[in-house]
Amino acid sequence: MRGEVVVSIDEAVLALDERSQLDFVLALRQRWADTVYPALREQYVRAAGGASGESLEEATRIVHTLPLYPWFSWMERAQQKILWRTAGDAALRREQKLRALFAEPPAEPTGELVLHPGLELPDWYTGVDIHLQPGGVWGDDLSAYVYELGARIVMLRDNDDYRFHRLFVETALPDTAERVVDIGCGFGKSTRPLVDRYPGAEVIGVDLSAPVLRLAHLEAERLGKKIRFLQRDGADTGLESGSMDLVTGTMVLHELPSDVIVRAIAEAARLLRPGGSLRFLEFWPTGEPFRDVTVYEHAERNNEPYFRDLFATDVLSACAEHGLVGARWVRFDERAKGLLPDGYEPRNEWHFPWTVLCAEKAG
Ligand SMILES: C[S@@+](CC[C@H](N)C(=O)[O-])C[C@H]1O[C@@H](n2cnc3c(N)ncnc32)[C@H](O)[C@@H]1O
Repeated sequence: MRGEVVVSIDEAVLALDERSQLDFVLALRQRWADTVYPALREQYVRAAGGASGESLEEATRIVHTLPLYPWFSWMERAQQKILWRTAGDAALRREQKLRALFAEPPAEPTGELVLHPGLELPDWYTGVDIHLQPGGVWGDDLSAYVYELGARIVMLRDNDDYRFHRLFVETALPDTAERVVDIGCGFGKSTRPLVDRYPGAEVIGVDLSAPVLRLAHLEAERLGKKIRFLQRDGADTGLESGSMDLVTGTMVLHELPSDVIVRAIAEAARLLRPGGSLRFLEFWPTGEPFRDVTVYEHAERNNEPYFRDLFATDVLSACAEHGLVGARWVRFDERAKGLLPDGYEPRNEWHFPWTVLCAEKAG
């Protein structure tokens, strides 16, 4: 079985009807971001009467009166639902093959997969179909494949080779590191580029979900990337104190309730050696009221109940309290530039307000 091409459901093995459905979702998504969002902004500017500097509350009130807003909101939610339906159907069509892959792990792995069947998953994690993915990413092995396929197209214009994650690794991370841990590593798309960035380094991926870790392990082995994947809570990794040069994570903090965000930061600080670096790629409000309303309300549209927890958490103080210095949010451009030390350039279309939490462990 492993000799076959199918390790993930990649585009090369999608049937024409599946490819067409995914193309439709991607086109819908681009239309929504490039055309509907700017049109919504025009309505907003007219309704606000050219005012600027309004509060988020006032901007929210205005946005809710705009004729386009229900349509804008529905489009985002509907495309996400179509995405999961399409990805779910594609996984089910290949169910036997995919389950067999999990049943037969690599015989002589270069890396390692350490699962903890007894690990009690927190209720805040299992009680939510995060991103509207039915059943989440933790219950059934197939959910990892569904998530992987969905993740390929969820990034606007960036469904090729995870350029986004490579940009993060190339522009936001320190030049050298010998021990690195990726918190909330998912199926490994944020972890694999670390192996290329730090040849010879010990690279560890931590996640709560066994299915995504199984897939991460399979893919890493197929690609010959040595990674140790651990099923642990990012707020309680069990790894040795002071053992890491770099603790990183992408798109995970916004999935955590506020108290867990603070515990995850404390854990990252514990793991870092003096002078080591913390880098978490996240979202952070832009300060532009209209854009921020559409960002905040993405939480409801996409079923991300802790999204607002991140914005309400004093993350920089939490870093300082746990011995991290120089904590700062630095903007990030997912299209081409990566880290933006001088802040965002003007953008007309809808985009996630990508921002990197950076800090160093006091030396
Ligand atoms: C949006 S995914 C991001 C995955 C990957 N970092 C990426 O960028 O593609 C968030 C991941 O974090 C994991 N996760 C959520 N809470 C966690 C926690 N407390 N500890 C470890 N992993 C967690 C989820 O299971 C999921 O795989």
